[in-house]
Amino acid sequence: MSFTHKSLLDQSLGHIATTIAGATAVFHQNKLDFCCGGEHSLRQALAKKELDTAPILSALRLLQQQDGEITDWRSKPVKQLIEHILQRFHQRHRQQLPELCRLARRVEHVHETDPNCPTGLAQHLDDMYQELESHMIKEEQILFPMLAGGIYPVGPISVMEEEHLQHGDALETLDKLTNNITLPADACNTWTALYLGLQELKEDLMQHILLENQILFVQPAVNQRADSQMCCGSCQ
Ligand SMILES: [Fe+2]
Ligand SMILES: [Fe+2]
Repeated sequence: MSFTHKSLLDQSLGHIATTIAGATAVFHQNKLDFCCGGEHSLRQALAKKELDTAPILSALRLLQQQDGEITDWRSKPVKQLIEHILQRFHQRHRQQLPELCRLARRVEHVHETDPNCPTGLAQHLDDMYQELESHMIKEEQILFPMLAGGIYPVGPISVMEEEHLQHGDALETLDKLTNNITLPADACNTWTALYLGLQELKEDLMQHILLENQILFVQPAVNQRADSQMCCGSCQ
């Protein structure tokens, strides 16, 4: 067993939930109480529930590693960048958002009377999830296969760029609802995990959009834009 796994086992559930974004989903799936029972170590909690440690440690380690190292994507093949975007961002958003909606619903319910309660956040995250899902499906089914084939269609690219602006507006609303994702002094573990996850979602979405706008959607200089031979693009 590695040192990292040992140290994770000895950390409290509350500490893990508030330092590894997405850990609450792993705990929730395994019915591990990180809020009221958050002072117990992961080792104690797993022993009490008689759960196998290996899959839970692997899931937590994967979350820790998902940030990965910095790569110069301009020098990589388009298909490799698409694969990276699908794995690192599309798949990750599909993991993040349902869990964030669940946590937001819980915080809004339990802390309804708290003046700092982010009222309306769960609904906003639901809306963001729907918008993002529809956007990602269009990229996956229409645009990305064209880009992988060396075709850079002006119309679909500008529609996706326009939707990226709407995602930026949604992040601004998220900031307004959460006082710029600032926790109140006495926040519980669930609230802390929620805001940690929101910060991660925000950074991921911004990085995702940046990679698409600045690199993926820009035609490599060596290729002829396939549709430019038929249309200058100004009419689209
Ligand atoms: Fe995307
Ligand atoms: Fe996109």
